[in-house]
Parts: sequence; C-alpha cells; structure tokens
Amino acid sequence: MSAITLQIDDKEVRVEEGATVLEAARSAGISIPTLCHREDLAPFGGCRVCVVEAEAHGSTRLVASCVHPVEEGLVVRTRSERVDRTRKTLIELLLAHAPDSPALRELAREHGADADRFEKEASFCIHCGLCVMYCAEVKKKNAIGFVDRGTRKEICFIPEIAAKECNDCKECFPLCPTSYLQAAFVLTEALAFPSRSPERA
Ligand code: SF4
Ligand code: FES
Repeated sequence: MSAITLQIDDKEVRVEEGATVLEAARSAGISIPTLCHREDLAPFGGCRVCVVEAEAHGSTRLVASCVHPVEEGLVVRTRSERVDRTRKTLIELLLAHAPDSPALRELAREHGADADRFEKEASFCIHCGLCVMYCAEVKKKNAIGFVDRGTRKEICFIPEIAAKECNDCKECFPLCPTSYLQAAFVLTEALAFPSRSPERA
C-alpha cells in the first residue's frame, strides 16, 4: 500500500492509503469527537458527530471523518465555524431523541449544544449501530438487527437467536449511548421468550 499525504488543520499528515480521515487525524494527535466509532468495529457512520470539512478537487464538503477515506492532497478542517455549527446541531437533534443520554449530554456540554433546542421526540434509539455491529462483528451472533428504513427504522432483537445467546452475554448493553437497548431486550424477553425471564422463572 502506498502512503498518502494530506493536510489536517494546517498540519501535514502522512498515512497509509485506505486509512480514514479520523485515523489520519488521530495518528497526528488531532482529536475529533466521535459517538458511534469503535476501533474494534468496522466504521458505520451512524451519528455524524465526527463531521469535518474536506476540501478536494476544488470543492469543500462536510463528511463523516470515521468513514471518509484519505486521498492525496486532501485538505481537512476539523474546526471551522461551519463544522462547529453543524456538530452542535447534530448533537441537539440527537438529544431530542435521547434527552437523558449521558454520552450526548457530555458532548453537548463540550460543544456548547443546547439540549432543549429541538422539541423532544424521544425514540431513545439514535441508530448509532453499535449494538448491531458489535453483535455481528465481535460476537458473530447477529442477535440484533435494524428493521425498516427512514423514520421507521429501529433495532430489533431476533427472538430465536436472542433467547439462546443474549442472557449469558449482554456485552452490548454498556455500549448503547441511550437506555433503549436494555429496554428493547427486556421487551423482547417478556414477549418472545418469557420462560427465560428471571421474573417468571
Ligand atoms: S439501541 Fe443503543 S446501541 Fe443500539 S443502535 Fe440504538 S442507540 Fe445505538
Ligand atoms: S463517529 Fe463518525 S459517524 Fe459516528
């Protein structure tokens, strides 16, 4: 693989081809906030909190740095008026869905986001994908998946798999930035495999 040279916040950075902008920034000690990124999982690009400005071929775009690949001569700005404003709005929108999420509240505090800017539409799951990816990639069980699309998209435990695998695992619970995952599991357990529920044993 060949090396790529790009510029991040006026710093020249050299990384292997195929790296993401987030990886390049981190290799140069430049910090970009993330919510749905984990180094042990393939990039998913669910939250967009890692937004940066990327300038190439005469145009500048906002991109999610955890999924955007580096390219020769790319110019990246991790902080600009536009980046800061966009990130703040994204956090505010996510907080409308999960107002009590400690991870989101912390991000709001760090980035000056107003937790009450948007009317609450608490759906709790913010579709970060961490539970789905972790179960598929690390545990290789696929006990959770996304169903539906757009505004109807939600995560769902697959009862046949969850009944066998989840009680002794639950490793995804602490990854969820909201309270939704645990609630979804309890509901699945109660409806789909009540005999395994400790309350009913
Ligand atoms: S349930 Fe939690 S971990 Fe899973 S996608 Fe929703 S917010 Fe992310
Ligand atoms: S951290 Fe990049 S999209 Fe969530």
